[in-house]
Amino acid sequence: MSVQIKSVAVIGGGTMGNGIAHVFAMNRIPVNLIETKQEFADRAMATIEKNLDRMVAKEKIDVETKDAALNSISVFLDLRKGVKGVDLVIEAVPENLDIKKSVWTAVDEAADAHTIFASNTSSISITKLAALTKRPDKFIGMHFFNPVPVMKLVEIVNGLDTSEETYKVVEETSRLLGKTPVPVNDMPGFVSNRVLMPMINEAVFAVYEGVATPENVDQVMMLGMAHPMGPLRLADFIGLDVCLDILNVLYDGFKDPKYRPCPLLIKMVDAGKLGNKTGEGFYSYS
Ligand code: CAA
Repeated sequence: MSVQIKSVAVIGGGTMGNGIAHVFAMNRIPVNLIETKQEFADRAMATIEKNLDRMVAKEKIDVETKDAALNSISVFLDLRKGVKGVDLVIEAVPENLDIKKSVWTAVDEAADAHTIFASNTSSISITKLAALTKRPDKFIGMHFFNPVPVMKLVEIVNGLDTSEETYKVVEETSRLLGKTPVPVNDMPGFVSNRVLMPMINEAVFAVYEGVATPENVDQVMMLGMAHPMGPLRLADFIGLDVCLDILNVLYDGFKDPKYRPCPLLIKMVDAGKLGNKTGEGFYSYS
């Protein structure tokens, strides 16, 4: 590998960010975990520890690996200090263009000139994010899947100006993490969500039109198509607001009515029923 990633900064310690920090640390690559508040950082570290413990209990890793992983994560509440000196910055902040804009503008000013930038966005254009920085050739999408320690895929999204060199470094880094990188080009929804979200949306339409209950829609897909979770349980797991945002990106991006979000999905998001994270979606989690 031409450039080896020896240290990484992960911005955001939510579900995706703490999972990404977990897999780098477990593979002995030091991580600067950047959060906005100490309580969010504490929550992220507690989740990482719980998930590492789960892997120790399943004998996937030993206690030494767990301890080394936890020790190799340093928490930063100052973004500029956290990105200084690392080889790769991965941003996993909420899917909101304004938040991402302010993060990437600050990172671009503070990071070293050689540092590669990756966004874990599931829907926002990599080309658009890259254009916020002065290094679009070093900007790429590194799209991980939840739960990050378990799911094998990293969808690597090449923006319009991403260089071959940047792609190669990120591809090899993904392999070092034990993941399988799959290259795709920057188009709305990339490949993963262009295929997944219409399926989830269609499952919501089936409920909306009274074809079947959520449980029965999920049973059909689990027992008939060997999906590990039905599409509606998966929608709850991803977050119904996230699903709606991604469908809107597809709808706006292609101007094709086949991506129109189901009115039931919109209504559930309006009601604050967002799935696992709010305790209610197509299922109840109380
Ligand atoms: N950290 C570490 N290990 C974990 C984990 C975590 N956070 N979560 C689960 N695991 C491990 C468990 O310990 C278990 O290990 P063993 O195989 O050794 O027993 C294994 O994963 C399976 O977990 P469980 O037995 O608890 O439960 P399960 O068999 O029902 O599997 C699941 C849970 C892995 C989530 C499975 O249901 C699944 O694969 N679901 C589909 C997930 C999916 O599609 N994710 C992608 C969502 S889309 C996305 O993320 C991106 C986007 O852009 C929207």
